[in-house]
Parts: sequence; C-alpha cells; structure tokens
Amino acid sequence: MPQQDALALLDADHNKVAALFQQYKTAHDDNRKRLLAQQICQELTVHAQIEEEIFYPAFGRATGDQQLLQHSRKEHQEARELISKVENTPTDARLMLELEDAVLHHVNDEREKMFPQARKAQGLDLMQLATQLEARKSELMAPHPA
Ligand SMILES: [Fe+2]
Ligand SMILES: [Fe+2]
Repeated sequence: MPQQDALALLDADHNKVAALFQQYKTAHDDNRKRLLAQQICQELTVHAQIEEEIFYPAFGRATGDQQLLQHSRKEHQEARELISKVENTPTDARLMLELEDAVLHHVNDEREKMFPQARKAQGLDLMQLATQLEARKSELMAPHPA
C-alpha cells in the first residue's frame, strides 16, 4: 500500500518536475540539458498518461464535472505538442520555458480546481487510486524489454 493518497502522489510528481525545470535553467552544458530534457519529457508523459487512464475517469465518475476534464485533457494535449518539440531540440531554452509555463499553469489548475473537488467527492477512494496510479507508473517508467 502506498503511504500517500492519489492527490499527494500526483502532487509529488508536480513538485519533482518543477524542480527539474529549475535544474534545467541552471544547467551549463548541453549534455546536462539533454539529460534533463529527456527526464522532464518522460516524467510529464507518464504523469499525463496515468492521470488520463486512472485519475481523470475516476474523478469524472465521482464529480460528473466533464467540463473541467475536457479542459484538462486539452491542456495535456497542448503540453504533448510542446514535449515533442522539446524532444527534437532539447537544448532550446526558450522552448523549454514555454513548456514550463504551460505545465505550471496546468498544475495550478489541478491544485486549485480539481484536487479540492476530488477531496470533497463522495465515493472517490483516494488511497485505492494511489495504489493503481503507483502500479501503472512503475510499469510505464520501466525500461522497455529488449
Ligand atoms: Fe494533468
Ligand atoms: Fe497533474
């Protein structure tokens, strides 16, 4: 069993990626920037995927707030477009800043609008969701079999 509920787990991802964005800004050489960019893109891709596969549908069932979900999925899509650009040019600091702005805005929406609703929702088992999110995340983060 995870030690934290789904919202704490997702927010830990948010904090982790925010720290990686900071590290990218102070990185001096291109190799380090490439490594950080790769890490940022992987973290964000996996995070968006587990939200869309597990957390968002559960949130939708519990709250019925389809409008908020639609808005969130649209922001994920916009982030994915920026992620694929960053993957192509990982040393482009301006592009990375654009991704960072988009992600921080989206994270703020989740923290301010979605998570408080999720916490109040009836029938949303946040510990059980954390278990599912964690399991799916480690599956997705694992290196692909040869
Ligand atoms: Fe999200
Ligand atoms: Fe998120």
